[in-house]
Amino acid sequence: MKQRGEKITMLTAYDMFTAEVFDEAGIDILLVGDSASNNVLGNETSIPVTVDELLPLTRAVARSARRAMVLGDLPFGSYQASPEQAYLTAVRFLKEGGAHAVKLEGGVEMVPVIEKLTAGGIPVCAHIGFTPQSEHALGGYRVQGRGETAERLRRDAKAVQDAGAFAVVMEMVPGDLAAEISAELTIPTVGIGAGVGCDGQVLVWQDAFGLRTGRMPRFVKQYADLRSVLLEGARSYSDDVRGGTFPGPEHTFEG
Ligand code: KIV
Ligand code: NA
Repeated sequence: MKQRGEKITMLTAYDMFTAEVFDEAGIDILLVGDSASNNVLGNETSIPVTVDELLPLTRAVARSARRAMVLGDLPFGSYQASPEQAYLTAVRFLKEGGAHAVKLEGGVEMVPVIEKLTAGGIPVCAHIGFTPQSEHALGGYRVQGRGETAERLRRDAKAVQDAGAFAVVMEMVPGDLAAEISAELTIPTVGIGAGVGCDGQVLVWQDAFGLRTGRMPRFVKQYADLRSVLLEGARSYSDDVRGGTFPGPEHTFEG
């Protein structure tokens, strides 16, 4: 797709119906993100989510997608200890989760891990720039690659490509730098907060379709207002039940 100049579309999905809908809409890649931690499981960050929590969600998405690639996100602590640990974790995402490929965070320091996985038959998508699992090490939620750190980001991008990654997510990177890196690499870049110069884009679906409220990062565009739809629906249902107008005769079995 990159060679043909076709943009790659990615959305997160964590369950059956979102996977079905996004697949039907033609989304190329469904990412079962570790962002399930703070979009499904009620945590504040992606740090606490475990492999055992993500595997059932991955399986649900894999069973429900007909043509999209299903990308399993390796959670914090499940791959950083060694290439062997990473391999055993990634194998679970393919065998138990049904994922086609896995994603992991990190650049130069992840080279041995990416080499091990790809040598063992597991396609790897890297994730550089702002990497939420390292939020504490990075000193908070901030744009990466500004000023002198641009060179490090370039090195990370080149390193994950040379290690065998088939794609790389770039998060919160200045748009001009992301465009340059995208032009330099042969593998596709998928941006989130990295401008239009990337080869593809990804968003968390609860952000894109307005389920989450509150302050949104600048890179989010809201395509629907699902929170209002659900709120209105739940209130109408509640009114009907309390007022005795649901269930009606049409919803009721006769003896
Ligand atoms: O977990 C996630 O949702 C992600 C995307 C934001 C790239 O890693
Ligand atoms: Na993630």
